[in-house]
Amino acid sequence: MKHVLELDGVHANIGQFQILQGVSFRVPEHQVTVLMGRNGAGKTTTLRTIMGYVRPRAGHIRMNGAAIGDLSTHQIARRGIAYLPEENHVFHRLTVAENLQMADRRARDGHHPERVERMMDLFGDLRRAWCRPAGSLSGGQKQMLAMASALISEQPVLLIDEPSKGLSPGYVHRLVEILQGLKGSRTVLLVEQNVWLAGQVADTFVMLDDGRTVLSGNMQELLQREDWQQQFLGVHATRGER
Ligand SMILES: Nc1ncnc2c1ncn2[C@@H]1O[C@H](COP(=O)(O)OP(=O)(O)OP(=O)(O)O)[C@@H](O)[C@H]1O
Ligand SMILES: [Mg+2]
Repeated sequence: MKHVLELDGVHANIGQFQILQGVSFRVPEHQVTVLMGRNGAGKTTTLRTIMGYVRPRAGHIRMNGAAIGDLSTHQIARRGIAYLPEENHVFHRLTVAENLQMADRRARDGHHPERVERMMDLFGDLRRAWCRPAGSLSGGQKQMLAMASALISEQPVLLIDEPSKGLSPGYVHRLVEILQGLKGSRTVLLVEQNVWLAGQVADTFVMLDDGRTVLSGNMQELLQREDWQQQFLGVHATRGER
């Protein structure tokens, strides 16, 4: 199996604080890998380090076998990684359609207006709101717009930070469908604390605790190991949907 991303003993500081202290995992091509761990475990910092916003102090980050740890964020994005941060970033004064058109124009493979249509097909809510300023959308709709803007460029690798945060159950189900739809064509590294959602979409999991990788393996195994969930996520029950 081909691994698109590989982290090997990554350490990273923010200011004088040692945040990542040994993060190692691999992300298989065309699968969804979920990065889990309690609040403050270092999930967001791991994504930011892959993207070059935080420089690794030690260890290696490779994409398709080539070291990317010394590249700038811009260079890393050009290698084919799209990053969807925790705070869903959309342009509030622009309409939904303008947000998508702008994301399309900024894509590294140039302008393809038909992709705007495709995204509105995928996210029906966005079509209904196409002429509204993004600032007037609900939190869930903004999240969908941010997701559509990230997907439009057709980057092969997506890093997505807690997309389900604050979403109503209906939107969580929509999100599950969209993530499932990416399998087979895109490689996804997803930060997610919702074990049920992770179980619906992820093939493999990586568990961080206190800036270190403590476990990784098959997602189905994590679903069965309530002791691991309790120890590293602090959750007791995983049966049923939230
Ligand atoms: N700019 C910063 N300055 C100082 N410490 C920071 C900074 N950013 C993050 N940290 C610390 O780094 C640790 C990891 O933070 P990070 O945001 O990566 O965690 P996380 O796993 O994404 O948590 P959450 O689930 O709450 O989003 C935390 O202890 C946090 O307080
Ligand atoms: Mg985070």
